[in-house]
Amino acid sequence: MGKVESAHILVTGASQGIGKAIVSRLASQHSVLGVSRSKPEFLEAAPSPSSNRFTWSSLDLANASAVEQFVTSLEPVAVRALILCAIDYGDGGRHPASAISVSEWQRMIATNLIGHCVLVSRLLPQLVGNAPGIIINLSSDVAVAPAAGRAAYAASKAGLHAMLRAVEAEHPVEELRVYQLIPTFQSLTSGIRRRRPAGFDFSSYADPALIAEVADRIISASRPFAPSGTYLVRRDGTLDRFHEVAGI
Ligand SMILES: NC(=O)c1ccc[n+]([C@@H]2O[C@H](COP(=O)([O-])OP(=O)(O)OC[C@H]3O[C@@H](n4cnc5c(N)ncnc54)[C@H](OP(=O)(O)O)[C@@H]3O)[C@@H](O)[C@H]2O)c1
Repeated sequence: MGKVESAHILVTGASQGIGKAIVSRLASQHSVLGVSRSKPEFLEAAPSPSSNRFTWSSLDLANASAVEQFVTSLEPVAVRALILCAIDYGDGGRHPASAISVSEWQRMIATNLIGHCVLVSRLLPQLVGNAPGIIINLSSDVAVAPAAGRAAYAASKAGLHAMLRAVEAEHPVEELRVYQLIPTFQSLTSGIRRRRPAGFDFSSYADPALIAEVADRIISASRPFAPSGTYLVRRDGTLDRFHEVAGI
């Protein structure tokens, strides 16, 4: 089946940070459906031309049944791309694995991993139906490298990263393209700001718009952008393929 250009791009984590930057950028050219628990503030403000192409639904990714119901409710809506930006960064700043509470483990794994896994798996028929469907995951260096003080974040990110590698391997590129982006720099987002101490110097942090520009290049490319896979995102917006183990 050919790609339906009017089909929606679904973005998780649409209310803040990188997800918000992505929907703000994409909605000027594409139909975008954003999900998060809180309504994006920019929808409350004066509507802009791009907000006409943006719709939003409330969704708590930590509730797997709600995620399944949400996908069922989407059936009349064609989805051709899925961009995964939602994140629960956990309680406070970095702390060792021994100090992570049971509720923190449960919330982070439920949101970052299980919620996204259910969303991806239930949306696969839609994405493949609008072939080639596209999945972009905002992955992290913690998914592939040691991350002291961030065990729950790393476990949830590595789990989703591995799940998407399996999904990528299950589908020929004509059906589905999976791009996992690993930023090589920090972006100044609400979530990151909350995790840093008062007076922290954010001058080296990038504007989330930089990642949004990369997502736009992938989504808006008239021909397949690049092979599926994991890419390091450089500060100048260039992408370098990150070669993972292909087999043992
Ligand atoms: N910022 C960086 O420097 C950086 C670096 C590397 C990778 N990343 C990755 O980039 C992505 C975005 O990060 P960010 O810094 O932009 O995050 P952020 O500012 O903390 O925003 C997180 C988003 O996730 C949503 N969210 C949180 N819990 C949720 C839940 N239970 N259900 C549904 N939505 C939920 C939040 O909306 P609600 O609270 O309204 O639900 C919000 O829109 C993440 O995957 C992160 O791992 C970021």
